[in-house]
Amino acid sequence: MSQQLLLQDIDEPGLHTLAVYERRGGYEALRKALAMTRQEVLSELEASGLRGRGGAGFQMGKKVSFLPHGAIERYLVCNADESEPGTFKDRELVQKTPHMLIEGIVIAAYAAEASRAFIYIRGEYVLQADVLDSAVAEAHAAGYLGEDILGSGHSLSLVVHRGAGAYICGEETGLLDSLEGKRGNPRLKPPFPANQGLYQGPTLINNVETLATVPAIMRMGGAEYAKLGVETSTGTKVVSVSGHVQRPGNYEIELGIPSREIIYGLAGGPPEGRAIKCWFPGGSSAPVLTAEDLDVPYDFDSLAHAGSMLGSGAIIVVDDSTPILDVAMKVAKFYRHESCGKCTPCREGTNWTVTMLERIDRGEATPMDLDIITSVCDHIIGNCLCVLGDAMAMPIASMVAKFRPELEAHMQAAHERALPPAAAPAGGGGGFA
Ligand SMILES: Cc1cc2nc3c(=O)[nH]c(=O)nc-3n(C[C@H](O)[C@H](O)[C@H](O)COP(=O)(O)O)c2cc1C
Ligand code: SF4
Repeated sequence: MSQQLLLQDIDEPGLHTLAVYERRGGYEALRKALAMTRQEVLSELEASGLRGRGGAGFQMGKKVSFLPHGAIERYLVCNADESEPGTFKDRELVQKTPHMLIEGIVIAAYAAEASRAFIYIRGEYVLQADVLDSAVAEAHAAGYLGEDILGSGHSLSLVVHRGAGAYICGEETGLLDSLEGKRGNPRLKPPFPANQGLYQGPTLINNVETLATVPAIMRMGGAEYAKLGVETSTGTKVVSVSGHVQRPGNYEIELGIPSREIIYGLAGGPPEGRAIKCWFPGGSSAPVLTAEDLDVPYDFDSLAHAGSMLGSGAIIVVDDSTPILDVAMKVAKFYRHESCGKCTPCREGTNWTVTMLERIDRGEATPMDLDIITSVCDHIIGNCLCVLGDAMAMPIASMVAKFRPELEAHMQAAHERALPPAAAPAGGGGGFA
């Protein structure tokens, strides 16, 4: 069993309350941090090598160090929008150990010299938002939030803001617009939020899991934390495993273990008698891998090297009972629905992809349509304002590349089914294209 830093006490009854969290050593890391200078806290974060757990994998300490100094209001925003299909780790952390997140936010805000913080939580997480509201009130009453925290001179206000259910509001600049009361459309970058974020002020945005890891780093020390995992992917990671596995759930692993150990060892592998057809290593926007890739180490760089990505750390397993066309259709329809419509390649490309996949299913497509889908995906990738377009194009292109014979067979079978009885070829086959 990997070292457990985030999920260690997760099923302790009442952990969401301040009393139980404190009994488990909660807020000791904050006391330790406040006894240090901001620069010393930042040095620990940098030494930890902690990479963001929300998708892009950017080093957290570096992000804090990018914030400009001087007499300007700085903000901290916690991204709890968690809408990537297959991802449910932040939900468990927020619901069961909200004070770990709050403690991480107060420490990170201290390092970032921010005195105002926001948690942007997805609208569907009603229970989790209620839990957070109660925890924030408790932390405030105990002096862990508000003015002059624990007599340190550091002050922080923390507001929980509920979103309205749009995937695009998880993208950091769409989130900032939404938080400002506007429609959640991504902004052109640069400027990056570290320079011009919320209300045009320097803003540190991090994912729930990233911030919830900060107390553990302060307790252990950055260098000690960096000994966990592998050199460029330090520490532990909470992985959400779902789909065709016997024991779906959240598992905390040390980065760099073989993916097979997660899918088979922890999650029990596919149901009896079934084999893995493909798996998404980092949410539905990650290019799919196959059973041949199960020994790839589960870390940022190894998964990138294998042609995919760690993304939000959500493994979705698909077994051989599911047609790959159904998987592609689900993915493409989701991103078509969630596209904000601002850029043409994403707005039109996601729609075209769904239309072409439907043509395959109706028996109206020819193998050339698969080349057109690949070409549409190529035209989306790298040509949009944010990576939502890529998030559809990358997995779809990977499915077409890796499962072309299955898609062609699906196309042919659908074509034959669609023919009027008199025109159907005797014994199947032929009549295609
Ligand atoms: C379309 C889209 C949706 C995203 N959704 C989320 C999300 O729900 N939660 C999240 O933490 N990051 C999400 N991200 C990544 C954020 O833009 C950002 O990189 C992240 O919040 C930074 O935090 P981190 O450095 O701690 O990972 C999304 C990105 C895109 C392009
Ligand atoms: S890529 Fe899609 S979701 Fe992102 S800004 Fe463009 S249209 Fe909107």
